[in-house]
Amino acid sequence: MAKEVLYLKIANIIEEQIFSETLKIGDKLPSIRALQKLYDVRLNTIKQAFLELESKSLIESRPKSGFYISKTSNRKLAIPSMNKLKLSEKQVAPEDLITKVFDTLKDKSISRFSLGVPDESLLPIAKLNKGLLKAARNWAESGTSYEPVQGNANLRRNVAKWSFILDGKLAEDDFVITSGAMNAIYNCLMAVAKRGDTIAIESPVYFGIIQVAQTLGLNIIELPTHPVTGIDLEALKKVIHKIDVCCFVTNFSNPLGSLMPDESKIELVKMLTHHNIPLIEDDLYGNLFFGRSRPKPCKYYDEAGIVMWCGSVSKTLAPGYRVGWVVPGKFKDQIIREKLVQTICQPSLYQEVVADFLEHGRYDHHLRNFRNTLYTNSLHFQRTIEDHFPENTKISQPQGGSFLWLEVDKSIDTAVLFDTAVKQKIGFAPGRIFTQHDQYNNCMRLNFAVEWNEKTEFDLKRLGQLIKNTI
Ligand SMILES: Cc1ncc(COP(=O)(O)O)c(C=O)c1O
Repeated sequence: MAKEVLYLKIANIIEEQIFSETLKIGDKLPSIRALQKLYDVRLNTIKQAFLELESKSLIESRPKSGFYISKTSNRKLAIPSMNKLKLSEKQVAPEDLITKVFDTLKDKSISRFSLGVPDESLLPIAKLNKGLLKAARNWAESGTSYEPVQGNANLRRNVAKWSFILDGKLAEDDFVITSGAMNAIYNCLMAVAKRGDTIAIESPVYFGIIQVAQTLGLNIIELPTHPVTGIDLEALKKVIHKIDVCCFVTNFSNPLGSLMPDESKIELVKMLTHHNIPLIEDDLYGNLFFGRSRPKPCKYYDEAGIVMWCGSVSKTLAPGYRVGWVVPGKFKDQIIREKLVQTICQPSLYQEVVADFLEHGRYDHHLRNFRNTLYTNSLHFQRTIEDHFPENTKISQPQGGSFLWLEVDKSIDTAVLFDTAVKQKIGFAPGRIFTQHDQYNNCMRLNFAVEWNEKTEFDLKRLGQLIKNTI
């Protein structure tokens, strides 16, 4: 049989198995070598068959892990709807609900779908502990002294070194170290905004951003945000004359998982530069990409220095270390002044441990494994939700990060469902906590940065059943 026909024949067999759901999204395909032996063909024939399937988005390769049935094959559930601009609607902060969700975290027997941080089992804790001992031994005065206000130079140098995505344009002096990304955002806002100013943010949005804006007395405009491509630039254009500052999570937002395409980032930076509006870019999920490469931040396109690029290791390495940073562009001096007033400096030892982790390539190594786990988890979650949640469930399609956003039947109030679920030891984050308006009441966020095992699968199925029982 001609070689061309042979590779297509093998590709067709796998395609049929995908459409009959013998192979489901998230399943790992046998290795190229295993299939070569099975079909008794040349390696290249299998490689060509895989290329054919890849070109149809039916399978995807994961570096050093193999080929997987990709999420785009035979997707059954729709993506969630996009919100509308609500300029005149009353704003009510969901503080009590946020507190209630956080309170449940004390009970370790509740499944951790509600959390915004990775499960400990996915973090390199033993290696970090070794790093702590090393830092305490080797670091001057065992880390008991003050650090420069700008932050540990070794850490700044290493974060700059690993910021390849900026084409080597950043040096250690461009960074200011902060207590995580949230503190970076706070410092940025203190530097560029005053009480009564207006901030534009995504919607739904990480509740911490609403809380900090409210604490600083800012008016908030929640922009319509597409679950796949992020903020709606047309909506931003309509209100741009009211805006003093923007804060966006451009890469794999929380909770939507949206990723702004490069063209939108270019247009956004151009628009904000034209109006001289600072952008706080919260990019702490950018390294958690499922595709081939890390998406660029808006900072990449920023020539005027209006973008303050924030990051941290909270979602990738150690949330409790409170190590974050900002590349503040033209606002650097104000931000260093703010930091001096608030915190002076961060604990030296944790900065040294992270610097050491970066310097010796351990962070990069960890990220590669972590991304693979997150990607396969996201597929397991999507598949289980497709099979066990009601058919009218809508589900986001993240290309990175660690969250899924679900829109369930309109009759369900997820804040009420939360109480019932917690009694059954299942947690999730109700949609209402991600907005200041009365919306997303039938939505929820699920964290898939957990260990995928029988219990996780069982709990996810039980959540689906609970929703079915409630409709
Ligand atoms: C979008 C976003 N920004 C900031 C933070 C807080 O990050 P950190 O712990 O580094 O302060 C979170 C945490 O969930 C987040 O999702």
